[in-house]
Amino acid sequence: MTPPVESTPDPPPQGAFVAEGVTVRFGGLVALDDVGVRVEPGQVHGVIGPNGAGKTTFFNVCCGFVSPDSGSLTWEGAQLKNLRAHDLAGLGIARTLQGVGLFAGMSTLENVMTGAAVRSTSGFASAAFGLPRGRRDENALRDRAMQALSDLGAAHLAPRYPGMLPYPDQKKVALARALVAEPRLLLLDEPAAGLSEGEMDELGELVTRLTDRMSVLLVEHHMDLVMRICDTITVLDFGQVIARGTPAEIRDDPLVIAAYLGADVTGGSEIDTASLTVSTPAATSTKEG
Ligand SMILES: Nc1ncnc2c1ncn2[C@@H]1O[C@H](COP(=O)(O)OP(=O)(O)O)[C@@H](O)[C@H]1O
Ligand SMILES: [Mg+2]
Repeated sequence: MTPPVESTPDPPPQGAFVAEGVTVRFGGLVALDDVGVRVEPGQVHGVIGPNGAGKTTFFNVCCGFVSPDSGSLTWEGAQLKNLRAHDLAGLGIARTLQGVGLFAGMSTLENVMTGAAVRSTSGFASAAFGLPRGRRDENALRDRAMQALSDLGAAHLAPRYPGMLPYPDQKKVALARALVAEPRLLLLDEPAAGLSEGEMDELGELVTRLTDRMSVLLVEHHMDLVMRICDTITVLDFGQVIARGTPAEIRDDPLVIAAYLGADVTGGSEIDTASLTVSTPAATSTKEG
């Protein structure tokens, strides 16, 4: 009998976020049809597709907002059954929503602190209500929230109220709130919406940096951002996966080009990814000849 060799431990069984066979119907409409995605540890996986393709529905399934009619989600080796949105934090999963969803009556710093609620053992409630037992927790929480804001270059926003902030700053606060929980999986729904080119570059760099600590599932319209920062991309059209691959593979896939630009554009045209977004359609984004 040979004893197990200690220097070659098994690879950790956890790490990937896997959606398999996800189908969602809204009445007669099949919003998602047998959709699968695999987010590898430390990778950025993009889900893209034209308007109505099913991206938001898929995101909502991954967040537990929508229960699929069939299919399964697996995270770190365990199947997520009847996932509900409030389960996410305990699973090490954080999300940001397109609508931002900050609390208007709390300062930026307090908003960010709410993101860490579950990790504070005596509970955010006791910290929030100033119970003595929560005092130390509250200070630690405050420090972490400040750190999360600082990491995003947003420490100066701490005392301000979300309603006073421009939209890109609100998005930073929402992201800081997600990150303060130190998730192992970050779900981002159209983080680039409403951002300028420069802000989008900043976001891209940030997401790339995050991957040393977490995996990222990115649902996004902006092809140029997706092409730049994703390791793998899944393309949806009419609720179905029409392509999957690296950015380079996706860029050259005729089905993807057709889905985004319309059936007339075929024959090896390259997508001008800089101008290709769902909100700036076909006409100007093909290259001649
Ligand atoms: N709650 C809903 N009830 C009925 N139909 C919906 C609902 N949500 C989305 N849909 C439909 O499902 C399809 C996919 O929508 P959605 O996931 O929002 O696509 P995307 O985010 O890619 O634009 C669309 O045809 C949309 O009209
Ligand atoms: Mg959408």
